[in-house]
Amino acid sequence: MAFIRLYNDSDFDACAHICIATLPLTLASSPAAAKLSPYLWTHPYTFLSPATCFVLDDGTGTAVGYCIGCPDVHAFVADYPRYVTSILSRDVEAPGFNTREPWVIPTNTFTSSGADNLSSDQVNPLALAQNAYRADWMLLENKSAVTTRWRATMHIDLLPGWQGHGWGRQLIERFVASVRSSRQDYGEGEHIGVAGENSRVVPFYERIGFRVIEGGEHEGNIWMVRDIKPE
Ligand SMILES: CC(C)(COP(=O)(O)OP(=O)(O)OC[C@H]1O[C@@H](n2cnc3c(N)ncnc32)[C@H](O)[C@@H]1OP(=O)(O)O)[C@@H](O)C(=O)NCCC(=O)NCCS
Repeated sequence: MAFIRLYNDSDFDACAHICIATLPLTLASSPAAAKLSPYLWTHPYTFLSPATCFVLDDGTGTAVGYCIGCPDVHAFVADYPRYVTSILSRDVEAPGFNTREPWVIPTNTFTSSGADNLSSDQVNPLALAQNAYRADWMLLENKSAVTTRWRATMHIDLLPGWQGHGWGRQLIERFVASVRSSRQDYGEGEHIGVAGENSRVVPFYERIGFRVIEGGEHEGNIWMVRDIKPE
């Protein structure tokens, strides 16, 4: 029977798989971007803040979903060099930093008539690699309106077969409880950025106590916050 437990090191590959299997199209459509994605959105949290990282275990020891995050994104960024040294530099070659890579590469698909009417953007793997090495860009830049007040942050993903059975709500409640008991400064609660192309999940978050921060839209992300009251 499936159950929720804390992340442990043997979940590393399963969590990378969950991240990649649930990516939005702009990331999923580039194999290089997909491969890098867990190094931005999964491994940093499980390595630096395992006490606030939970997995859904399918009952055989395999993680099939997770809710992972940290109580204080500012403390997390300050601690990030530890992740770079131990995990990132082992697995991902450091990119150049002479120019800042654009996040998105527009890709145009031409129809047989030559009309450029089908286009889909892909995330630039070089920008992903740069951001993997620069947590301050990824987590703090242009976001101070939310990160100074709602200092915790998290990511949640469940493999398709495990969605829609109440696990998402339960995983987030476990994460919130762990933030509350972390003794770190989580401010007023947690913030998350939902990719604009994934806006269909906004009603899920609203259902479990998040709200959209108006005017907080940045780089196509919808910013949502959830208050966490001390006990
Ligand atoms: C989004 C996701 C985490 C939700 O988890 P889940 O286990 O499927 O959601 P739950 O079954 O726990 O649903 C919790 C509540 O939200 C509601 N809900 C779920 N999806 C909803 C939706 N699209 N619109 C409105 N309500 C929704 C459920 O009805 C449930 O309500 P209730 O508890 O009051 O009955 C999961 O579907 C997922 O991993 N999706 C793919 C990856 C992804 O998009 N991750 C988020 C990236 S920002």
